[in-house]
Amino acid sequence: MRMPYQFPRLLTAVLLLAITSLTSCGGGGSAVTPPPTPTPTMPAMENHPDLRRRVVYQIVTDRFFDGDTSNDNPAQSAGMYDSTKTNWQDYWGGDLAGIQQKISYLQALGVGAIWISPPVDNVNVLATYSGVSYAPYHGYWARDFKRIEEHFGDANNTWSAFDALVAAAHAAGIQVIVDFAANHTNPISTGEYGVLYDDGVKVTDYATDAMQSGTAAYYHHQAAIADYSDRYQLQYYTLDDLADLSQENPAVDAYLKAAINAFQQHGVDGFRLDAVKHVNWGWEYTLQNAVQSYSTTAGAAMPPYLFGEWMEGIGDTLFADSAKWANNSGITLLDYPLYYDVATAFVTGGSFNTVYSDLTTEAASFAAPNDLATFIDNHDNPRLLSKGATTDQLNEALAFLLTCRGVPIVYYGDEQYLHVDSNGGGDPYTRAQMTSFDSTTTAAVVVRYLAALRSANPAIAYGGMQQRWINNDVFIFERRFNNSVVLVAINKNESNSQSITGLYTALPAGTYADYMNGLLNGSSLTVNSGSGSNPAVDFTLTPHTVAIWQYTSTTTPQAGALTPREGQPGLHVAITGTGFGTTAGTVLLDSTPAAVVSWADDTVVFSIPSINAGSHAVTLKTAAATAASVPASFSLQVQEASLVPVTITLQGEPTLASGEQYYLSGDVVELGAGATDAAHAAGPLLLPPSGSPLITVALPAGVTAHLRFYKLASGSTPTAIESVAHSYTAPTSGTDAISVTWNP
Ligand code: NOJ
Repeated sequence: MRMPYQFPRLLTAVLLLAITSLTSCGGGGSAVTPPPTPTPTMPAMENHPDLRRRVVYQIVTDRFFDGDTSNDNPAQSAGMYDSTKTNWQDYWGGDLAGIQQKISYLQALGVGAIWISPPVDNVNVLATYSGVSYAPYHGYWARDFKRIEEHFGDANNTWSAFDALVAAAHAAGIQVIVDFAANHTNPISTGEYGVLYDDGVKVTDYATDAMQSGTAAYYHHQAAIADYSDRYQLQYYTLDDLADLSQENPAVDAYLKAAINAFQQHGVDGFRLDAVKHVNWGWEYTLQNAVQSYSTTAGAAMPPYLFGEWMEGIGDTLFADSAKWANNSGITLLDYPLYYDVATAFVTGGSFNTVYSDLTTEAASFAAPNDLATFIDNHDNPRLLSKGATTDQLNEALAFLLTCRGVPIVYYGDEQYLHVDSNGGGDPYTRAQMTSFDSTTTAAVVVRYLAALRSANPAIAYGGMQQRWINNDVFIFERRFNNSVVLVAINKNESNSQSITGLYTALPAGTYADYMNGLLNGSSLTVNSGSGSNPAVDFTLTPHTVAIWQYTSTTTPQAGALTPREGQPGLHVAITGTGFGTTAGTVLLDSTPAAVVSWADDTVVFSIPSINAGSHAVTLKTAAATAASVPASFSLQVQEASLVPVTITLQGEPTLASGEQYYLSGDVVELGAGATDAAHAAGPLLLPPSGSPLITVALPAGVTAHLRFYKLASGSTPTAIESVAHSYTAPTSGTDAISVTWNP
């Protein structure tokens, strides 16, 4: 008998059902016990609003499920549909109604949020390159950001199907994250030639737009990106023949912000921001602020979570830029740096030492590592199974993903072992048709178990990530948040056992059953008491094993995260964690009280008070006057005001010596409050092949700042700095573009 799926709101005292181990693989050897059925011991799900306590499920809408055949081949874009599902560049019929019809399946998996591919209206004409035709089934070729694509909704491009999906998802306790591609519209040289509509009214196309001069143009009319380490090319040149939107144009700025706000109005809980490396970086700070400001104005219960796609590995040229952008924009990132080495570790024998080294580097680089959006597969890369992973290896990688720090994203179909390996399984074969919805596969049960653990034990969402034992194939790591502990032991070797001696843990003394009930060969662990950390009784990790032992304590008030970590007075900010109680207490920014907007045991929302701009420590005091400080690294950055994008061109600049870059400092927190190091000041400035250096910065609306350009080679001591600051007052809304001349 299957236990009914439970999603009770805010359980205050949850006792996971005692899990008895169905396997007895405490010793060595490589015998594999068939996976036990998950019933009747499957732990209940808790429903916490914070996405960090949820599992995200990524869906390519067109390839998931056809819930409405009437929209398969709509009149206005006829001929893009292939009912045989053999032309991988056509639409195959999946739609928003289809996702809605599979909500109970998603619930059975323990999914807490869905990320859907861009649902906006895409081009109605096939693009043709080298004689091959391409339909925009993926959603990244928008023509109208304010309407829903007819293949996913209805022939009138209304929001009906979208609204129905959001309502059904929310009723099931599932949040909805929309993929938003602000970088571009659609192909320039084919299809609809960069056409753009505003809620059904044509605004421009690429050729017409080219007649516009200066900042009136909707698009940057520049060459294709050739150098992916050139910051100017990345932001101003053309990505893959896609008409590159000029976010500096006030009309484009207003259009994109109105469009993303429309999705919020229709109930969206968060956004995956496409290709953020190619959008104007400073403008994106203002997009984040526009989203959070709208959320406050609309009275949303929880501020949205935003994550961007920036494909950059550790050691790549722009890794530091990506971390700076994430730390200062308020938008976290898809964790590509970790992904690259996790894929290698689980599939081709890469070492866990490399994975751990990545985690360490990222912990030192990103202000909020627990916010990073983690994944092992997605629509742009071959699935692990196409790369040669066995199903065992995929199961283990999933277990790692779901217990590692970060917000985990499971790619649709992984739980069904879906893969098509043509051409190495890359795009488009990584977007295969979902054909099976079986919630009892081992992978599906892994997801369900670990979604429950993430919901119940706050160490997964908020804890640190401590290495306890490691070699090439074995990684034992501990997640710990206050008294809550999760200890994860993985042996990814296919044939060798590993005896584990000298393991210490923060788990209290006792014997712990494997949380997944032996599903991936884990067995129980005995911990003796010690001083500080406790010694585990030596044991053997069998081949391809994941064992998880946990202890949950949620009664002590402890803050785990802030969402967002920056904002202007009046903006709503959520403190999430445990043990806040249900009676409202107080929130302090340093010693200044903040108005409490809502108070629950796991989530307190407050309004940023009128207070000096800068960094402020946030403390929450429960009604019983017990304090829970937000960790120091999550201090709230209070801005002077809401943000507007200002593009500043520097003329008469001194020449750069080798290794030098231009930066901009200023006496507002948005520019680093006078700091002259690379991580806090704005920059480096972009260097067009001809013309002057420039940068778009997010400045507080209506506030006067004093700007000073300088040159920096490394460290924080400029090699040259302007003698006199430029006084500049940002507009109260819209965008601005100014030009200043270097003051020698
Ligand atoms: C990255 C997306 O993930 C990819 O699928 C898309 O084609 C490009 N950005 C362009 O939007």
